[in-house]
Amino acid sequence: MRLKIVGSAAGGGFPQWNCNYRLSRAARAGNAGIRERTQSSLAVSTDGVGWVLFNASPDIRQQIAQTPELQPAADAPLRSTPIRAVVLTNADVDHIAGLLSLRERQPFAIYASERVLAALAANPIFNVLDPAVVLRRTLPSDGELELCDADGRGTGVTIESFAVPGKVALYLEDPGRPEADYGSEEGDTVAVRISGGNGRSAFYIPGCARIDEALRERLADAACLLFDGTVYTDDEMITAGVGQKTGARMGHLAMSGETGSITSLADMRIGRRIFVHINNTNPVLDENSTEHAAVREAGWEVAHDDMEIEL
Ligand code: MLT
Ligand code: MN
Repeated sequence: MRLKIVGSAAGGGFPQWNCNYRLSRAARAGNAGIRERTQSSLAVSTDGVGWVLFNASPDIRQQIAQTPELQPAADAPLRSTPIRAVVLTNADVDHIAGLLSLRERQPFAIYASERVLAALAANPIFNVLDPAVVLRRTLPSDGELELCDADGRGTGVTIESFAVPGKVALYLEDPGRPEADYGSEEGDTVAVRISGGNGRSAFYIPGCARIDEALRERLADAACLLFDGTVYTDDEMITAGVGQKTGARMGHLAMSGETGSITSLADMRIGRRIFVHINNTNPVLDENSTEHAAVREAGWEVAHDDMEIEL
C-alpha cells in the first residue's frame, strides 16, 4: 500500500494568503529549511493505478497538477481520473472545498459520516457533484469497509472509521452555545484506520481534540500514525498575535505539553509517527527550530507535501 501526503498544512496552507507572521514570510522568501505546504489531504493506493483521496482540500487542483499519480493516464478515456473515492474526515473547509473542483460529471464515490454528509446536503453548492454521478455513502460508525468506486468496484483499500474528540466545522458552530462541541464525539470528526490487505495499517487522524484511553487502545501496534499536528503549543496563535483561539478551542490537541500528543503517545509501540495538518503558526515548520529538533528527538516526523509512505 502506498500513502502519499499530497497536502500537509492545516486550513489556510503555508504560507497562508493573508498571513504576515514570520513563518509565512520566511516561506515566501524561500528561506532554507522552510517548505511551502498545501492544505490537508492524503492519497492511498494498493495497486498504484486507482487512488483514494482522504479529504479534498481547496488546493486540490494544484495538488493533482503536482502529483502525476492523480492525473488521467495517457491511455485512459478522454475524460477520466485515477481518483476512485474521496473519504472526508470532517466538514472543515480545508477538507471539503476541493470537492467543488472535482465537478465535470466525473463518477467517483464520497464517503463520510452522517453528520458530514448532512453538512454537504445542507449546502446546495455541492450539488455541482450530481449525487447520481458522484455517490455519497455513509461511513459506518464502526467496523471495516472496503472502499468502492462509483460502480461498486473495490479499490483494495479497506478502512475502519471511528469518531474522535473533535469539533463541528467553524461555519456550523452555534454562536448561542460558545462552549459547546469542542470535544464532541458524535462523528463531527472521524479517524480512519487504512489497510491494504497485507495486515499492516495506518491511522489517519488530521483532527483530534484529545487522546483518551479508547484511542490509545486503537493505536496499539499501529504500523504508521498520521496525526493532528496543527499547533505545537496550545496558545500558539495568541502568542504569535494572529488570533484569539487556542488549539483546544479549534478542536486540535497541541504537540507539546503534559497532555500533548507527543507525551500522550510516548510509551506506545507505534511504527512511524508523522504530524500532518500543520498550521502556519507552528514553529516545527522551520526545520532549523528547537521545536522541530524536539519533535524529531521524540521520534516523530513532520510531514511535507509529496511525502510517501510504503506499508
Ligand atoms: C480546522 O482544522 O480547525 C479548520 O480547518 C479551521 C478552518 O475551518 O479554517
Ligand atoms: Mn482543518
